Amino acid sequence: MSEKTPGQLTFVQKALRMTKSTFPLVGLAKANSRLMRAISSGAHHFQFLVEWGVDNPEYFDHYLDQFYAWKKSRNSLPWERGVYSSFALQATTKDGRKPSVLELCCGDGFMAYHFYSLIADSVVGVDFDPKAIKSANRNNKSDNISYAVGDIRTDIPEGQFDNIIWDAAIEHFTEAETQALMATIASRLKPDGILSGYTIVESGGGHKHLHQHEYEFHDKADLSRFFTPYFANVQVFETTFPNRTNLYFYATNDKLPSERYLNLVESR
Ligand SMILES: C[S@@+](CC[C@H](N)C(=O)[O-])C[C@H]1O[C@@H](n2cnc3c(N)ncnc32)[C@H](O)[C@@H]1O
Repeated sequence: MSEKTPGQLTFVQKALRMTKSTFPLVGLAKANSRLMRAISSGAHHFQFLVEWGVDNPEYFDHYLDQFYAWKKSRNSLPWERGVYSSFALQATTKDGRKPSVLELCCGDGFMAYHFYSLIADSVVGVDFDPKAIKSANRNNKSDNISYAVGDIRTDIPEGQFDNIIWDAAIEHFTEAETQALMATIASRLKPDGILSGYTIVESGGGHKHLHQHEYEFHDKADLSRFFTPYFANVQVFETTFPNRTNLYFYATNDKLPSERYLNLVESR
């Protein structure tokens, strides 16, 4: 922001400038923010203990990440997930037209609101847990997002979408369910549409990361094999954090995001 001359300032701005020059207002504001962050972190830690201490819902309230867990763990995974799927949305944006998005198993709607709604024409979020949808409607509402309760094994919303996002959820289905779902998912995409999402690599030793997981993938090839019968171009890549290995996927019958969305890869 360029500095304004005294003549351009309103009365309130002039008063603010004078106060700042005589009183440590900025330091005080920062101390207040620090205190509020500590209070908010404590409140979200308490929510985490209550919600996850003895059992847990199938969806995650990502405000727990934002206000408590991220600072503690330094693990940026939830944000990474939102960013990689938004690359797929950037890739389907053309001639100023924003994409129509379907988010399968949208959970609390945090991703739909914070990562997709600004760059999408519309987002439809579906999840079979009424509590997740209630939370989404309460905390992550926007005019261009609609949330619906539905079991995607039988109720994938009708329509043709530019993007379908299946984030942190493909592992909640058996191999047979995923195979059966893939034909319907492919049929809901426009010819140049992109399916994107994230899942976790199995930890080994038969131990599941979450008891609601039906099938955790061995590696990139194990995940790819579900997409290749339906999509000409599939990209699966991996990121690693101290306690987990993550898999991301893009599947399309047109060009992959990195080939199509050239701003992503070209320096000029
Ligand atoms: C780990 S959460 C991920 C939620 C969200 N995508 C996110 O990234 O926060 C998995 C979600 O899959 C949903 N889910 C599991 N099986 C489903 C099904 N058959 N139909 C619709 N949603 C389902 C759960 O209710 C839960 O919200």
